[in-house]
Amino acid sequence: MSTNKMISDITIPKNTSLRGEITVPGDKSISHRAVMFGSLAEGTTEITGFLPGADCLSTISCFRSMGIEIEQTADRVLVHGKGLHGLSRPKTALDVGNSGTTMRLISGILAGQDFDARLTGDPSIRRRPMRRIITPLTEMNARIRSENGSGCAPLMIRPSALHGISYHSPVASAQVKSCVLLAGMYAKGSTSVTEPVLSRNHTEIMLNYLGANVTTEGTTASIEPEPKLVGRAINVPGDISSAAYFLAAGLITPNSELLIKNVGVNPTRDGIIEVLRNMGADITLLDQTGEGEPAADILVRTSSLHGTEIGGAIIPRLIDELPVIAVLAAFADGTTVIRDAAELKVKESNRIDVMTANLKAMGADVTATEDGMIINGGRPLHGTLVDSHLDHRVAMSLAVAGTVCDGEMIIKGGSCVDISFPGFYEML
Ligand code: S3P
Repeated sequence: MSTNKMISDITIPKNTSLRGEITVPGDKSISHRAVMFGSLAEGTTEITGFLPGADCLSTISCFRSMGIEIEQTADRVLVHGKGLHGLSRPKTALDVGNSGTTMRLISGILAGQDFDARLTGDPSIRRRPMRRIITPLTEMNARIRSENGSGCAPLMIRPSALHGISYHSPVASAQVKSCVLLAGMYAKGSTSVTEPVLSRNHTEIMLNYLGANVTTEGTTASIEPEPKLVGRAINVPGDISSAAYFLAAGLITPNSELLIKNVGVNPTRDGIIEVLRNMGADITLLDQTGEGEPAADILVRTSSLHGTEIGGAIIPRLIDELPVIAVLAAFADGTTVIRDAAELKVKESNRIDVMTANLKAMGADVTATEDGMIINGGRPLHGTLVDSHLDHRVAMSLAVAGTVCDGEMIIKGGSCVDISFPGFYEML
């Protein structure tokens, strides 16, 4: 969340039963990309279902600073793209706020421009690792550096002639993959990125939809340079990462039956459904629609949950949902082991340490490990003062727990949920 916004603490009300239909806000990853790629396309991209969260508004503001006209109304966003080479030099540093997606994807685009740009953001983003993009971009001959030499933002990016590379990324990260593919649009020759495990593929789907040539084979995505992108209508489905809090609330609140409408269920994002079913959850996917980005209505009913093991190739498919899965594991019978999730340490907060400390404060039996958590569920949890560390997903995960456990739950900095889910507490 931008540092100049007022941050406040939130007291969580109790829920006794959740029944009815809800719609969650648009997918954050897809909303960011629609604005970015729409800006690089020729003509207008009309976005419906856009997420007006602080992160995506940061993306809009960055592209406006680079000369793109973007109209935003309550029900749509119009991006008047100027083509691959239509951006202009920003007059001041680009401020990405709290948004890792904005910073890492824009860096790939900026590496190919003929102007200088400086990228910065809030204290959280200035602690997050950027070497993961500096390394491959430098291999492509980009001139990008961390201003203070720490490998973190502020970043300075200067013009240079890029060439394509075949990059083997040590991390499964859609942000790294997307950054390199976007730089690849401005490079000489083709560019490919191979990941250890497939990460979300929204960039590949949307670039192809707008006219690029991106191919995927296994965990390798490749792009040809100088695509002619053409603006088109983009309908953003509901964010499964936001739906996750209501799936969780529906499962642990007695007497609940909740229908969450139009949720994006791209197979690179739907790991939570698989894990919850493994834990004994009663979840049904109804009315599946959409081609490139499939969506479905999801029906969830109160269920008694048991522990499970989560690790390996499923991790990138549910990385953002692990905080709320940890909450559910504390309510479940038996032990849940989360492994291969060291990436949690470099998200908006160190989500392993922060979730472990908060769940312990509520009375849970949780141990942090090098790459995850071990949660012995079934202990009675109580509300208390917990700390979001200004991490929106931590705040929302704890809020779900607070609605059903005894005692008053106050979330320090809880208003930070506006990053990805404006109106979250009202809906809860
Ligand atoms: C995102 C990718 C993921 C995810 C983040 C959004 C994206 O990050 O955690 O919330 O939109 O590409 P990494 O690529 O760092 O895993």
